Amino acid sequence: MILFDPAERMRAMASASVLPWSEQARIVDDANRIENGTLDAVVWNALWMCLPSRRDCAECLAEAYRVLRPGGLFVASVTHPCFRDRQFATFRTSFDMDDYWREGMPFQVTMFDGTYVVQFTDYHWSLGEMSRQLKEAGLQLHELREISDLDEAPWPRGVPWLVLVAKR
Ligand SMILES: C[S@@+](CC[C@H](N)C(=O)[O-])C[C@H]1O[C@@H](n2cnc3c(N)ncnc32)[C@H](O)[C@@H]1O
Repeated sequence: MILFDPAERMRAMASASVLPWSEQARIVDDANRIENGTLDAVVWNALWMCLPSRRDCAECLAEAYRVLRPGGLFVASVTHPCFRDRQFATFRTSFDMDDYWREGMPFQVTMFDGTYVVQFTDYHWSLGEMSRQLKEAGLQLHELREISDLDEAPWPRGVPWLVLVAKR
């Protein structure tokens, strides 16, 4: 298992949380250090919404394609673009669904766990756009999985998370 994140703080958090239970895990500070066609799977957990432009998305997807072996799996979790204006158990956003077609539209996310609240900017990529980007990168969309929310709060609901599974 290889873990990569450009942010030093995230790599430090990864080494603190992963290395104790995985001798095989390797943390790299540069994705170029991962050889072509060597990985069985690439997992993007909450990464796609951090990428501010189509070009950034295309470059990162090309990297995922490069390191995957033929037949390898690409798995990405994203906050569900079709329900981005809903309040969920652990986050809400400032996203206005009237902007659904405005690809790359920045929006504010407020994430909370009952004690802490953090705010940051994410970028909107619609379902169709993510599917297009996968195709342009040579990754064949294989499956979509919708992940339900944590609890049964009274507000109108939707689906907070979407997992896209594709194959090289
Ligand atoms: C919302 S955080 C998710 C972090 C981690 N995947 C997790 O599951 O906790 C998004 C992460 O994407 C990283 N990131 C931003 N641009 C990236 C890129 N081009 N390639 C890889 N990671 C990137 C950021 O540094 C940040 O740590």
